[in-house]
Amino acid sequence: MKVTAAVTHEQGKLSIETVELDAPKASEVLVKIVAAGVCHTDSAGINQIIPVTLPAIFGHEGVGIVEEVGVGVDTLKPGDKVILSYPSCGCCENCTEGATYACEDLNRLFFDGSYKDGTKRFATEGKPVSSFFGQGSFASHVVVDARNAVKVDVELDDLKQLCSLGCGVQTGAGAVLNALVPDPESSLVVFGCGGVGMAAIMAAKIRGCSKIIAVDVVPSRLELALELGATHAVNGKEVDTVAAIKEITNGGANYSVECSGIPMLIKQALQCLRRLGKCCLVSVTGDAEVPIALEPLIMNPSVSLIGATEGCSAPQVFIPKLVQFYKEGRLPVEKLVKFYPFEKIEEAFEDSHKGVTIKPILTF
Ligand SMILES: NC(=O)c1ccc[n+]([C@@H]2O[C@H](COP(=O)([O-])OP(=O)(O)OC[C@H]3O[C@@H](n4cnc5c(N)ncnc54)[C@H](O)[C@@H]3O)[C@@H](O)[C@H]2O)c1
Ligand SMILES: [Zn+2]
Ligand SMILES: [Zn+2]
Repeated sequence: MKVTAAVTHEQGKLSIETVELDAPKASEVLVKIVAAGVCHTDSAGINQIIPVTLPAIFGHEGVGIVEEVGVGVDTLKPGDKVILSYPSCGCCENCTEGATYACEDLNRLFFDGSYKDGTKRFATEGKPVSSFFGQGSFASHVVVDARNAVKVDVELDDLKQLCSLGCGVQTGAGAVLNALVPDPESSLVVFGCGGVGMAAIMAAKIRGCSKIIAVDVVPSRLELALELGATHAVNGKEVDTVAAIKEITNGGANYSVECSGIPMLIKQALQCLRRLGKCCLVSVTGDAEVPIALEPLIMNPSVSLIGATEGCSAPQVFIPKLVQFYKEGRLPVEKLVKFYPFEKIEEAFEDSHKGVTIKPILTF
């Protein structure tokens, strides 16, 4: 079928055009996209910091309605509302144990642009076009594996708000609720209050952390962080961040989550911890290297550092939980979003880069 999509033919460019989309194969579904979030990882792909094979269609936070199901799909039917998330093979050792975020085939399925069988679904002038994250949701319709389409029971207006549950919000909330699992009454610091960090703050409140410290350099972001559940705000431009956190927590925090994408902040995220503290690194900063003095980490605080992809979340289990939190008013993601008609995709990216909008969402 013919569909409309924003295609990247060359580095840094987007062009809205008509492309061909194949019918869903076995275990796949065709989804009419209603809305799609803009994530920094899309920029990294479009600008070829992640070398996705071009031409490609980016977008990996799509939501929509199932129009057709392939052979063997018994979990979804036409008319179902779905939140699309990241792909996984479903059959490697880690997937079999439920750790789909550590799928052995993850790099290929996220970034190579092809599906499990190695083929692509979009084409232009007879040439295959890559689908980012097995999705490519900057398009009016996509084909995805049923494994990465999560059925949800919400009104259409709510569905549009929930795009980032498929990646950004899942990443930040999952870093707290799945990776760190803080004890209630503990202290947790979030570095970087973008979409990912705000989700971590909301999750820390859900978990019952008693001190939730937001660190950013933009006053309006710190204000929103306080509204969403942070108990303290630290402006990294104005004060010594580590000293401020140690004072607030009487010597150091139990947990920290690094969501700023600034490599050097990982040092602060470790230095601000008390003994046995845990730091979760979610921000993606290419292959940046950060020198860290090892002895104080082992001898004094005895801290641990973990890395988390997609918040260590199994989407089919975790996204329905997040939707429930949203319905209860405990995950007010609507406070992060601004809607843009699909045609204004370049403006949405610009506003994301400039920090004007926390989570731009394209509507179709
Ligand atoms: N691990 C994963 O699976 C995964 C998934 C999605 C996104 N990410 C990554 O998570 C990171 C955060 O994503 P986002 O969408 O929230 O980004 P964002 O750019 O919206 O947020 C980053 C925040 O950090 C703040 N910041 C900048 N410099 C700072 C400093 N010196 N001190 C404190 N704060 C500072 C910014 O003001 C901003 O609020 C990105 O690197 C993104 O690529 C990872
Ligand atoms: Zn796998
Ligand atoms: Zn993302």
